[in-house]
Amino acid sequence: MDSQERRYAKYLEIARATKAFNEAEIGVLEEVLQDCLVEQSEEGYILLAEQDKGEDVAFLIYGKTPMTEFTYDLYWIVVSPSYQGKGIGRRLVNRMESLILAKREKANIRLETSGSKAYSGQRSFYEALGFRVCGRIPSFYREGDDLVTFYKFISKNNPSGGKEGNERL
Ligand SMILES: CC(C)(COP(=O)(O)OP(=O)(O)OC[C@H]1O[C@@H](n2cnc3c(N)ncnc32)[C@H](O)[C@@H]1OP(=O)(O)O)[C@@H](O)C(=O)NCCC(=O)NCCS
Repeated sequence: MDSQERRYAKYLEIARATKAFNEAEIGVLEEVLQDCLVEQSEEGYILLAEQDKGEDVAFLIYGKTPMTEFTYDLYWIVVSPSYQGKGIGRRLVNRMESLILAKREKANIRLETSGSKAYSGQRSFYEALGFRVCGRIPSFYREGDDLVTFYKFISKNNPSGGKEGNERL
């Protein structure tokens, strides 16, 4: 196993350990990781990781949304269970926002998550970071499990987004 493959295996292990994803979702993550570990480009997936004592403990995958001028999707964010609640998720999102604004004056950031009770902590996390709900599709994942879309507008004048940007809604 080379070092990239080891990282790839570690990210899957972290995602499984959170128990937040079913096997179909882990399968999709596996494909996405294969794509982003092979090549990282402006138009493809971009992976950011956080380490502790040289070990990967969290990662985030985002990318420019095709067919848009300044919109990005936050596809995955995963923090290893014993490292949750210590500000690592917030740090990953801040790093993503800084990297986006290093290239652009402004950006929309979109993400999708579940509306289920089990995901209420995740939704609180996105709200704490200034994201706001801008859409919902009932029973999208399965009966009673809605898809919830969150959105945040960031700009060089307002780099972490929040109120001013979300008034565009
Ligand atoms: C969701 C997740 C990425 C959050 O990362 P984290 O490192 O634990 O979050 P942070 O410590 O950076 O928290 C940042 C803010 O969000 C809030 N927050 C985080 N998790 C929360 C929870 N479960 N309930 C309520 N608020 C929460 C924190 O209170 C904090 O707010 P504050 O800075 O104002 O105090 C992490 O819990 C995780 O990996 N979960 C499993 C995988 C997953 O579900 N990923 C998202 C799929 S949609």
